[in-house]
Amino acid sequence: MINIAIDGYAGSGKSTIAKELAKRLGFKVFDTGAVYRAIACSFKQMNLNVEEISDLYVQRFIEKIEIEVKFINGQQHVFVNNIDFTDSLRTEEISKLTPLLSPFRCVRNKILGLQREFAKNNDLVMEGRDIGSFILPEAEFKFFCTADEKVRAQRRLEQYLAKGKNILFQEVLEELKQRDYNDTHRDYGAITILPDSIILDTTYQNLDESVEFCLSKIREKYPNI
Ligand code: C5P
Repeated sequence: MINIAIDGYAGSGKSTIAKELAKRLGFKVFDTGAVYRAIACSFKQMNLNVEEISDLYVQRFIEKIEIEVKFINGQQHVFVNNIDFTDSLRTEEISKLTPLLSPFRCVRNKILGLQREFAKNNDLVMEGRDIGSFILPEAEFKFFCTADEKVRAQRRLEQYLAKGKNILFQEVLEELKQRDYNDTHRDYGAITILPDSIILDTTYQNLDESVEFCLSKIREKYPNI
């Protein structure tokens, strides 16, 4: 199986690139952020309290949930306790709640096996934060996706505006900086650039250019892919 890891910062374009790259290669794509987001949705749905978040509180919650990832008509769906949260993952509230839960070891361990099992059985592009460093250290290609933070904030702003949300650029930038900080400063599963990471800087690239860059690296090893 060929496993391709794409890790990187929020708003760097990694999800879109991962989807398009997988499509062109005929591979599956696994969005690990969606699984963390579904966990946050379940936390919210159980009316648990953000103020109470602690090791023990999160541990108790995690013990109560079963997570399943299914591909329905080629689209990834995440179920927690049989509830499909796929359509609720991308709200601002869930974007803020997810990084509060994702640093906990029990949360990360809960989905470790699921991610590895999927990679063992599929040619795939898996995107997240710790895929190359921890989940799939043997991945054949490890892309690290980044872009200037103002460019990333602008992209996020456009997504929010397209959804009809009224928000200022400065607010989006601050939210993004906070997320970057949380995702890089944690003991477990932090974003890391590895010695074998291939840096994919999307600041001045469009989607096609980014995907072509990845394909060119992959074809250096697999010319006929
Ligand atoms: O990639 P996405 O923005 O959907 O990720 C949402 C959140 O999930 C991130 O801010 C991060 O806290 C968490 N995450 C993670 N590890 C991953 C993927 C996502 O901690 N592999």
